[in-house]
Amino acid sequence: MSYSYQIKSLEQYRETYKKSVEDPEGFWGVIAKQFSWKRPWDKVLDWNFTGPEIKWFAGGKLNITENCLDRHLEKLADKPAIIWEPNDPSENNRILTYKELYREVCKFAQVLRNNQVKKGDRVCIYMPMVPELPIAVLACARIGAIHSVVFGGFSAQSIADRIQDAQCSIVITSDGGFRGNKEIPLKSVIDEALLSSPSAKKVIVLKRTQSLVMMKPGRDLWWDEELKKVEAGSSQDFPAETMDAEDMLFILYTSGSTGKPKGVVHTCGGYMVYTNYSFVNTFQYRQGEVFFCTADIGWITGHSYIIYGPLSAGATSLMFEGIPTWPNAGRFWDIVDKYKVNILYTAPTAIRSLMGFGLDPVKGKDLSSLRILGTVGEPINEEAWHWYDEHIGKKKCPIVDTWWQTETGGILISNLAGVTPSKPAHATLPLPGIQPVLVDENGNVVEGTDAAQNAIDSKMPGELKSGNLCIKFPWPSIIRTTYGDHNRCFQNYFSAYKNLYFTGDGALVDEGGNYRITGRVDDVLNVSGHRIGTAEVENAINMHARVVESAVVGYPHDVKGQGIYAFVIRQGVQFDKEQDRKEIIQTVTKIIGAIAKPDKIQFVSGLPKTRSGKIMRRILRKIAEGETSNLGDTTTLLDPSVVEEIKNGKL
Ligand code: WT7
Repeated sequence: MSYSYQIKSLEQYRETYKKSVEDPEGFWGVIAKQFSWKRPWDKVLDWNFTGPEIKWFAGGKLNITENCLDRHLEKLADKPAIIWEPNDPSENNRILTYKELYREVCKFAQVLRNNQVKKGDRVCIYMPMVPELPIAVLACARIGAIHSVVFGGFSAQSIADRIQDAQCSIVITSDGGFRGNKEIPLKSVIDEALLSSPSAKKVIVLKRTQSLVMMKPGRDLWWDEELKKVEAGSSQDFPAETMDAEDMLFILYTSGSTGKPKGVVHTCGGYMVYTNYSFVNTFQYRQGEVFFCTADIGWITGHSYIIYGPLSAGATSLMFEGIPTWPNAGRFWDIVDKYKVNILYTAPTAIRSLMGFGLDPVKGKDLSSLRILGTVGEPINEEAWHWYDEHIGKKKCPIVDTWWQTETGGILISNLAGVTPSKPAHATLPLPGIQPVLVDENGNVVEGTDAAQNAIDSKMPGELKSGNLCIKFPWPSIIRTTYGDHNRCFQNYFSAYKNLYFTGDGALVDEGGNYRITGRVDDVLNVSGHRIGTAEVENAINMHARVVESAVVGYPHDVKGQGIYAFVIRQGVQFDKEQDRKEIIQTVTKIIGAIAKPDKIQFVSGLPKTRSGKIMRRILRKIAEGETSNLGDTTTLLDPSVVEEIKNGKL
């Protein structure tokens, strides 16, 4: 069988998709041959969803950094691998060619080795968006250490939880970071986190803000001093560790419907193959183009589409340290203009926030280099889609609406830019190898929504269908386990519906088979594209001394997509409400981080509970959404009168 790696027409997409579901092993076997393996695999795929036990390219040996760096050195040595735009536009930018990035990664790999980091060790990375962050990530991968990047907005408590869960032996951080006009004191947050994280014996600290930090003797080391020791040595090449395709590459913590974030595990071979394949096809990347993904590397989007996808494809990946609205709301457009960005990949929340500034910030910016636009992270509303299309893409750039998750590793449902049709607010069609289906509450597949079956039967759904989105067959970058608790992985993703991976999202499928993701159907919120579990926020709120109980739900928010609405029962109603609100917000910031701050806090004397004590969130959700009449059945409530009180006090 022969496939073209980059799909070029709708017809070719249909043909490739059909083949990929009729013979997944044959398909992925051919795709994976594009990479540099130290030893070929024995078997393309081994799987069951009842473990789950999923092995891609078993027996294959590789190192992902050889695929991201070494193999490009012959032809692309002097091509920019990473373009870095600093927070402050008056500071010098940095451009690292493939050869330079290779050298830096090798040197830092040696630093890690000098500090006794071994294959399989877990390394926590808590850094601002500077080139040393991808360098640290790739250096881990080069020596076979498992990186766990923690987003710079998380609190000391959140970091401590993550370090302990993974038993990280070392932390890589910086003195601080710049974001807009703020300076974030990363090192002091780490100092606090390490008070309760005994597994971490060392901290490597990059100088970024030059602010004064405490350096604990015997534990804390300066990045530049460690690097100097390596530079004084004879060889600056660092041979890449040989990894099994199924060895862990990284852990990334994400929120679920329970209080404790889980460590999503991705492995080396399948993740490499899928991030590359999805990058090249979704964005239709052409050699020489500049790709700008505005995400933070602390989230999966940054892992897959700032680092691994683009670099494995030999692309130029632009990373930006700052925020879209500083020094003004034209910053993205300045960057596009300055570097002649060809592909821009951002979040609906950023688009909506920039829309709010009107068209002035776009005026006079040369956006003519743009060829393709993308969005990710949450459903994009039609208004934002059209604004992006008209004012940024000037109606000549295809927009890809890419649906995926931390657990999926890469984009699963999206149009392929300019190749398959786009439809506003629709992620549209599955990528080759992806087999989505919708199921009803009883777990039965909704007729006509099985994309793979439709392809095989040359059928279309015929009419609009809705259900819960599941995937019925593994793809190379599917989650393998939740770190330290394999059963949790099964319970979370594979137990709701037998033999299906359940995404947690609801979706529609139109007559033409286009998927439209409508949002989470579980207790997970999506606030500005950040994933937050309601239980986590409740736990944090409950840490406040005067809080008796709380219930958190999402409500529609113009810019953030969803806002956080907290209903709180407090002790001592005589205390000042504003003061208590402030303190609760401080508590949440301290326990989780500023991203989880409630937008609204309503004090109530009781919560709507069933006789068995379960909070009826459905009712709270409706009230938070502004619904007052249609609250559904409230007869099973222990005390229906609380509903009236809550309705009357709505903020
Ligand atoms: C959740 C996953 C994937 C990287 C960023 C978020 C929502 C993601 C879309 C989209 C509608 C989307 C889903 C999903 N989501 N992309 N194009 N359209 N919803 O990763 O934090 O793991 O969140 O984000 O609800 O389940 P994440």
